[in-house]
Order: sequence, then structure tokens, then C-alpha cells
Amino acid sequence: TYVIAQPCVDVKDKACIDECPVDCIYEGERSLYIHPDECVDCGACEPACPVEAIYYEDDVPEEWSEYYTANVDFFDELGSPGGAAKLGNTGTDHPMIAALPPQNQ
Ligand code: F3S
Ligand code: F3S
Repeated sequence: TYVIAQPCVDVKDKACIDECPVDCIYEGERSLYIHPDECVDCGACEPACPVEAIYYEDDVPEEWSEYYTANVDFFDELGSPGGAAKLGNTGTDHPMIAALPPQNQ
């Protein structure tokens, strides 16, 4: 799977969403999250992000390694909706991300 890391928090550019062929990039309150089971590893989203927040799971920088878990665990309650567009903004975040101080410059 691919993982959305820290640079997305409080930015949410959403250019990635338009690139995903399976609509598996879900919106939280402060970040977006890639569904680990729905993502087909096509990689189209990665170059689309202007702040380089997206990484293949094996390539996530060490400082952001916990974002792999955040992307996976975000779906503990959502399950596998099979499409992000119909959900829109879920209004929630993984606790680790919800606890971050504001990331806006
Ligand atoms: Fe976030 Fe980048 Fe997508 S900022 S919403 S991962 S384009
Ligand atoms: Fe979609 Fe990116 Fe995965 S475009 S299929 S979330 S690699």
C-alpha cells in the first residue's frame, strides 16, 4: 500500500484524489488516508502531491514511520467502504494526527 505522511496534515491539497483509479484515498478532518486493502499500488497519487506527502510503504521516511500505522488504523471503524467519494469528509482523524499541533505555517 501507499501511505500519506505528515506533510498532508492541515494542507489537504487533494490533487491525489483525482489520480486514484480506485477512489481509495479517504478524507479525514486534518489529513487524508489511503486504504491499505483497497489501494492497488498503482502509484499514480505519489507524484501528484505538491508537498510530497505520499510514499510507498517501504519508502516512508523513518521520521514518519508511524504514519503507516495511522493510515491502516484509520480504517478500524470505517472498514472497507469501497469508495471515498461517497463518504466525503469523515470528520475524524487517527488519534496520533488529531493530537498534532496546528501544522499551518
Ligand atoms: Fe494530502 Fe498531498 Fe493528497 S497534501 S490530500 S496527500 S495531494
Ligand atoms: Fe490510489 Fe495511490 Fe493506491 S493512486 S491505488 S492510493 S497508489
